[in-house]
Amino acid sequence: MRIHYCYSVICYLLMRLFGRKKLTALLLVLCGVAAVTAVWVLDQVCAALAPPPPLVQDLSHFRRNRSLAHYLDNVQLLIEPSSTHCSGVEEVPLIAVVPTSPSRYDHRAVVRETWGKHQPTYFLLGIDGYHVDENLVTTYLEAKQYGDLIVYDFRDHYQNLTLKTALLLQWTLERCPQAKLLYKIDDDVFLNPWRLKEVLKDHEDAKLLGYKVSNVGLHRDEYNKC
Ligand SMILES: *[C@@H]1O[C@H](CO)[C@@H](O)[C@H](O)[C@H]1NC(C)=O
Ligand SMILES: *[C@@H]1O[C@H](CO)[C@@H](O)[C@H](O)[C@H]1NC(C)=O
Repeated sequence: MRIHYCYSVICYLLMRLFGRKKLTALLLVLCGVAAVTAVWVLDQVCAALAPPPPLVQDLSHFRRNRSLAHYLDNVQLLIEPSSTHCSGVEEVPLIAVVPTSPSRYDHRAVVRETWGKHQPTYFLLGIDGYHVDENLVTTYLEAKQYGDLIVYDFRDHYQNLTLKTALLLQWTLERCPQAKLLYKIDDDVFLNPWRLKEVLKDHEDAKLLGYKVSNVGLHRDEYNKC
């Protein structure tokens, strides 16, 4: 009885304060907020209880042995230039090795036609995961024609970029140890060879040159490749 009485008094006071119409509107808004909150809470509870969603991508390769030596031991060199700018030369100031992939023929063509003419330039790639035989033939023909392809026996995939980079270092060390500098440059980057020469002249003693990116956070979004 007392509680009832109490509610009546509160109702009466609210009605005096807002008037009947406003009070109804207020109660409706409160009901709406309560309903949305309830749905949100229910959603959180269900999410906490539900089993984890299936993995969007196959992550098994991340569980492999990540030792670089182990990584490289298992990859065979398939195609390489029969002779390079380094063969029989005592010192090579700079060679550029471009990580690329089988389907990016057009990119390589542009590099060959432009900045690639101005310093020794080689392309390193793996094998396409699809239509392997067909792609190998195309790659072989391209290698024969231009003599600048280095092809290793691994699946050319974005997630194998570390492998590609390690192979790039390994190939250069083995085949062109006399190179003073190795330039790793993507196939979609336009290089100004004259400016590069100036920069190198200004940093003659540098062991490593590059652009330092600082104050950046981690990208946790699995679809963000940055
Ligand atoms: C990973 O490979 C390296 C080099 O082959 C080897 O020494 C090491 O024991 C391996 N680690 C595991 C966990 O298999
Ligand atoms: C990377 O290359 C290895 C060797 O060919 C292959 O087994 C692996 O599946 C490749 N990774 C991806 C993500 O394709």
